[in-house]
Amino acid sequence: MPADFNINKTAVSSDELQKQREYSQLVRSIIEQRFSEPPKAFVHTYGCQGNVADGERLKGMLEEMGYSLVDELDGADLVLYNTCAIREHAEDRVFGNVGALKSRKSENRDMKILLCGCMMQQKHIAEKIRKSYPFVDIVFGTHVIHRLPEFLYFNLSTGKKIYELPDADGVIAEELPVHRDSDFKAWLPIMYGCNNFCSYCIVPYVRGRERSRDPETIIKEAEQLVAEGYKEITLLGQNVNSYGKYPDYGCNFAQLLEKLNSIEGDFIIRFMTSHPKDCTHELLDTMARCKKVARHLHLPFQSGSNRVLDAMNRRYTREKYLELLNYAYSVMPDLSVTSDVIVGFPGETYEEFLETVSLVREARFTSMYTFIFSPREGTVAAKLPDPVSKEEKSRWFKELLDAQEVIAAERTASMVGKTYRVLCESVGKNGLIEGRTQGNIIIEFPADESVIGTFRNVTVTESLTWILRGKLSD
Ligand code: SAH
Ligand code: SF4
Ligand code: F3S
Repeated sequence: MPADFNINKTAVSSDELQKQREYSQLVRSIIEQRFSEPPKAFVHTYGCQGNVADGERLKGMLEEMGYSLVDELDGADLVLYNTCAIREHAEDRVFGNVGALKSRKSENRDMKILLCGCMMQQKHIAEKIRKSYPFVDIVFGTHVIHRLPEFLYFNLSTGKKIYELPDADGVIAEELPVHRDSDFKAWLPIMYGCNNFCSYCIVPYVRGRERSRDPETIIKEAEQLVAEGYKEITLLGQNVNSYGKYPDYGCNFAQLLEKLNSIEGDFIIRFMTSHPKDCTHELLDTMARCKKVARHLHLPFQSGSNRVLDAMNRRYTREKYLELLNYAYSVMPDLSVTSDVIVGFPGETYEEFLETVSLVREARFTSMYTFIFSPREGTVAAKLPDPVSKEEKSRWFKELLDAQEVIAAERTASMVGKTYRVLCESVGKNGLIEGRTQGNIIIEFPADESVIGTFRNVTVTESLTWILRGKLSD
């Protein structure tokens, strides 16, 4: 951690939060004068669950200001895109969607367009928006989302555009209003930011330094969620298992899990994303002991080659990663492990790529998120020579997917005939109910919609490579 990192500066003061609540009331009175019924706000979040959790707070603030949230862009009086910067493709989608708002704005001059999130925290992007997308009203970075009421108030009262992306190590704003997207699955951020600076990754630059929420506040929020009937709580952090390091509350991630596990009630706990360098035997033993913690570990490995891992600044080796998995499977034989991997890191050779394929075969992941390296401005890896062509990388990518497909199919086939307790989540396109096993595998089965939001025992009747089919057994 940088020497000048001052953890005391991270909490947004109660005075500041009070000021924002006052701005919120001011916005409310402006819109009550201008609109005969609550104006419609369309909020769309890109990227990871951490960003989705921010999106739920942005929605909560908009509701408090008097907006009514809608799921459709058509007819919206306010559009807010909460963006992601992880890969070029993610940014291209946002530029495309923002560009498409131009004609809507010319039809409805009073429509407000707001952009925030990781992409906007980058100066060169905010500059591009200012120059090429002048119809955008408000741009704000990741460290100031709690100031949304202030930004809206100034824009609504003066008509002036706002670009606010202060450099910061990052803050923690407690007690923001939250509009949760689901009434049985909840995101619970426990730490923010990242200190790891993996050489390919933009996150440390746009999300600031690692900072953890106070364990008491987290436990209270979890107790409240359980009391409200939530059945699944997912603990979130870019580096979730380094929870409790900064500041040191005397409660590390394993200890926090243990405390959450002891909350009374029928619910499960998930967490993501864990970094292998912070994945201790203590954590795996705690998972094994805690009955409410799902038997699922998302543990990105990124590459199977030690040279590439070193160039990525991942700070573990292939051997260390596989040792961790062996230990995890030894204490939790029914554990389901998922992972992330990058194909075509600058300078990666085909032989090094084949080490990734062999790790995948040894690790036997349930599923994997596979990405082709995307250079991110400002990161170390973006400056490295990258001689392998896009076409070549795409061939490697396909080879890796084929290898994982065989493993996934074998894993799901081995589940046929067994019964799992699943959380029923939604109705799929084919009319079947979609549930999720503790191991994070989707299972489809015929049932009445009333099962949604409850745990049910489902017996697997068929495996379809990545997902399962089954029937209710209670
Ligand atoms: N904090 C998490 C995940 C962060 S982003 C972790 O450390 O595992 C999710 C995934 O996106 C990463 O695991 C990585 O596989 C991928 N990713 C990040 N930056 C990337 C880049 N520049 N190009 C391609 N994939 C990238
Ligand atoms: Fe990015 Fe690495 Fe931090 Fe994950 S651990 S967010 S990949 S820098
Ligand atoms: Fe994207 Fe930011 Fe998450 S870059 S992956 S939204 S932390």
